[in-house]
Amino acid sequence: MNHTRTLILALMIALLPACSQQRPSTVGSDAAIEKRIDQLLARMTLSEKIGQMNQVSVGGDISHYAEALRKGQIGSILNEVDPVKLNEYQRICVEESRLGIPLLVGRDVIHGFHTIFPIPLGLAATFDPALVEEGARIASLEATAQGVRWTFSPMLDIARDPRWGRMAEGSGEDPWLDARMAEAMVRGYQGPVLDTTSMAACIKHFVGYGAAEGGRDYNSTFLTERQLRNVYLPPFEAAVKAGAMTLMTSFNDNDGVPSTGNAFILQDVLRGEWGFDGLVVTDWNSMGEMIAHGFGVDRKDVACKAANVGVDMDMMTFGFISHLEELVASGCVKESVIDEAVRRILRVKILLGLFEHPYVDVEAAAAVQYAPAHLDAARKAAEASAILLKNDGVLPLRADKVRTILVTGPMADAPHDQLGTWSFDGQKDHTVTPLKALQERFPGKVIYVQGLRNSREVRTRFDDVVAAARRADVVLAFLGEEAILSGEAHCLADLNLMGSQSELLAALKATGKPVVATVMAGRPLTIERDLSNCRALLYAFHPGTMGGPALANLLFGDVNPSGKTPVTFLRTVGQAPLYYAHNRTGRPYNGEMLLSEIGAEAGQTSLGNTSYYLDYGAYPLFPFGYGLSYTTFRYSDIALDREVYAEDGTIDVSFTLTNTGECDGTETVQVYVRDLVGSVTRPVKELKAFERVALKAGESRRLNVRIPVADLAFYGLDGVKKVEPGDFQLWVAADSASGEPLSFQVEKKE
Ligand code: BGC
Repeated sequence: MNHTRTLILALMIALLPACSQQRPSTVGSDAAIEKRIDQLLARMTLSEKIGQMNQVSVGGDISHYAEALRKGQIGSILNEVDPVKLNEYQRICVEESRLGIPLLVGRDVIHGFHTIFPIPLGLAATFDPALVEEGARIASLEATAQGVRWTFSPMLDIARDPRWGRMAEGSGEDPWLDARMAEAMVRGYQGPVLDTTSMAACIKHFVGYGAAEGGRDYNSTFLTERQLRNVYLPPFEAAVKAGAMTLMTSFNDNDGVPSTGNAFILQDVLRGEWGFDGLVVTDWNSMGEMIAHGFGVDRKDVACKAANVGVDMDMMTFGFISHLEELVASGCVKESVIDEAVRRILRVKILLGLFEHPYVDVEAAAAVQYAPAHLDAARKAAEASAILLKNDGVLPLRADKVRTILVTGPMADAPHDQLGTWSFDGQKDHTVTPLKALQERFPGKVIYVQGLRNSREVRTRFDDVVAAARRADVVLAFLGEEAILSGEAHCLADLNLMGSQSELLAALKATGKPVVATVMAGRPLTIERDLSNCRALLYAFHPGTMGGPALANLLFGDVNPSGKTPVTFLRTVGQAPLYYAHNRTGRPYNGEMLLSEIGAEAGQTSLGNTSYYLDYGAYPLFPFGYGLSYTTFRYSDIALDREVYAEDGTIDVSFTLTNTGECDGTETVQVYVRDLVGSVTRPVKELKAFERVALKAGESRRLNVRIPVADLAFYGLDGVKKVEPGDFQLWVAADSASGEPLSFQVEKKE
């Protein structure tokens, strides 16, 4: 593949339009910006240039950093959000350093700044890029008002193993969905034009980090170039095209090469093929960790390697600031490499308007936080992200029929934990829990018995909860996992509800009262055994600041659930990784019997010779794209406009969607395609389009979705991205496991 790669690379660069990053009107043309950078660079000493490449996590007393700031030894800081302090940091740089270059202030604003939205995995469940964009814009408004101009988001790591705690931070298992969310977040953070409310997006972690072996964070990955190109790189490429200004290298080594020293991904693909002219920052000490990987002997060695593959900024290794000068002196790193890195850093600072506007208005900043419109948007996002996984008809609850409601479970009133991972700045005092929301909505009707103090508590008796349940008309159990159980470094080997939560649910069911479970979690937990102990189950992920009112609205039917699973839900953790877009084996599962169905006498041959588990079969609990509603939808008269398409044609598929139920609702229509025969084996299905459609009860609408044939291209045997003519199937369906396929062909262009 490598040979052809160089050729294609040259070709692609020639054809590439200039990278389409948004340019603010205030700072002048591209040429003017480059000239400004040239002039600055010409005045900078080598030490000042290297200072720009140094990022430092600050905290406490500013005086600790003042000297380094004055000397121009720090180009960026992270982890300070106090606007008064940030103004002072900027003042020292602007007024007291020789060249007056402002700081780039970074922060992990991952799913909201103060107003916290659902975790990114929950946002992906909305299948609603516009809503996600709005959330990112709001995060920007709040964060930039306080002086934060760079967020380390969005995380675009494809995650197919729910043991990996960081699945919470991304958009799940699918590259198409991930790419659409990536574009939305980049647009939202950076805004329609770059101005003082723009926060530079940082797409991360480049690349493959989510494929950590065994789902253990930081672990090695072994992705082939084809898997990288077909599955892991597309969301990054989409985000680059959407104008992402910065990118972060990942911690993992892929096939032996740590990302922070990986010339193939950083030089060939990112800069070469995609023409990315933004800033590349390391992950926290990921340069230094190349020593632990055994990829460099010492900090000087890894600093040299990172600089030479195009890393521009060092987050917390202090490798550049300590060694780049001597590396330039010895010829290991050319000064031109440093100049390019500094150019990319200064360009971001200029584009953000930092030279003109280094300070924030502290009083105005306070007024922006938790603005009513922000809380409203966060509530809507939480409503759209919850997935109804089971409902025997008990939901929606009728407010007029319910006199007494038992609220129970460790997540019912856990204001910090419902915010989820990476919500440094979201304050629990502003969080509305389900308990609070229900008490407010139904004064005097709510009994609250916590049942379990936290998700891990083990209890053998639930007398208090059971007694309360007997007094209630309905039981609302809020279960799941606390924020701390997912996110970075927080991986799990057992994905069942922890502690005695399943036992609590079983005890509640035994009362005979209707039990509705709501699960808040950072990943798809294995809840199969719990489904039979509740009459309905709503999966809310960690829903954020306004999770409580959102869930109350869903449970009582003011809002109809519309979330769909952004990741496959497993029956048991031993099935991981299990994802819908897997390749076809030579022996696909055929519905053969399980051990339990055959009995003890099962012989070797009676079990079938296909790809499945003797104890759990081959199917998940819930497939990708799945989610119920209080109404039902029917797909009918699905038709393609042609039987044969040209390679540069467009597929137009039309269908009728009917809301066949009693209430209004929103369906996420999904279009999947399968390439039947390829130069390499192809996934059994791949998502190629989705659309949320709102229909009134009984309403029927003729719809169509257009898919450019070019979107069927992939990297085949020759390593070239192209559509391979031949036979295809296409589904228009409610999820990745339903619907009947239509057939079509793509014909070769003469
Ligand atoms: C994480 C990054 C994050 C960085 C800065 C690292 O540990 O992997 O995702 O942006 O810290 O906080």
